[in-house]
Amino acid sequence: MVDIDKLREKFLKDINLAGDLDQLNAVRIDALGKKGAISSELAKLGQMDADARKQAGQIINAVKQEITSALTERQELLAKQALDKKLESENIDVSLPSRPSIQAKMHPLSRTMEEISAIFADMGFVIAEGPEIETDENNFTALNIPPEHPARQEHDTFYLKADASGNRPVLRTHTSPVQIRTMRSTKPPIRIIVPGRTYRSDHDATHSPMFHQCEGLVIAPDIHMGHLKATLIDFCLSFFGMDELPVRFRPSYFPFTEPSAEVDIGCSRKGGGLKIGAGDSWLEILGSGMVNPRVLENCGYDSATTQGFAFGMGVERLAMLKYGIPDLRIFYESDLRWLHHYGFMPHDVAGLHTGIV
Ligand code: DAH
Repeated sequence: MVDIDKLREKFLKDINLAGDLDQLNAVRIDALGKKGAISSELAKLGQMDADARKQAGQIINAVKQEITSALTERQELLAKQALDKKLESENIDVSLPSRPSIQAKMHPLSRTMEEISAIFADMGFVIAEGPEIETDENNFTALNIPPEHPARQEHDTFYLKADASGNRPVLRTHTSPVQIRTMRSTKPPIRIIVPGRTYRSDHDATHSPMFHQCEGLVIAPDIHMGHLKATLIDFCLSFFGMDELPVRFRPSYFPFTEPSAEVDIGCSRKGGGLKIGAGDSWLEILGSGMVNPRVLENCGYDSATTQGFAFGMGVERLAMLKYGIPDLRIFYESDLRWLHHYGFMPHDVAGLHTGIV
């Protein structure tokens, strides 16, 4: 029989020398595995006579017990060391400030379009759209601006290549052609607004070759100038968020309306600044009028029984006035610092759907 004491000593020493869990497991197999030294000693007990078995059995089992608890103890120690080492290498400094998350902001022009739409939506208007590449007919002729009309010169139109039949499409110079498209495709009553992009060959502090307008059109048998005035006064009060605001309807001329009026709001220009609401000055903000009977006829309506009003406003101009932005070119420069200053958080826009309060 092998010297059990020697085995005991050897394994206890090996256990203490095991530097990691793998090594320790190897010792466990050597000692207690199926073919391990201690297991073999236990197997031999069966061939002994009763007395010897009892005596040897006690000794071997005691050694097995001792080795088992030494293994457990060492295993706990090694596991703890391994964990400590891992924690040390994956050290997280919870006191570090978090990285700032950059939140996108809404462009003031998008915001202004949303505001305008929300206000008119509350008055029962629906949004209509049309293409940015428009026919000469829809952009001009049907709106009572025939080819030789002087108003064509004012529009600085971008013309595209003529098609096979010699017609030159244009980048729409205003949102008014959507009036024509809507009247030609639907029957009254009509109550639409048309926010959208428009183009003119013009570039300075207050003009950009691409800009935005919002058109409005209301058609029903009994619509008159009083409706036009009430609608636009309500819009001005709501858009500028004022209980009182002087609004003036100044006679004007547009080929597609008759009579026509430009709408001015009261303001003060004292001290070089611009203050909306009070003062002795006026600021033009939009064009409007009763739809010219010729335009109604061009769209196949009977102007004796149908009438309505229309209006058109420049979105950039309204945004500049409301948010105190002096130069329009900055809208398109994609300067993130500017956008962070003038932009809007998405939650600001959520509240918009109240429109008129
Ligand atoms: N289309 C005009 C422009 O671009 C604006 C306008 C004026 C539209 C009067 C209208 C209107 O519908 O009635 O200058």
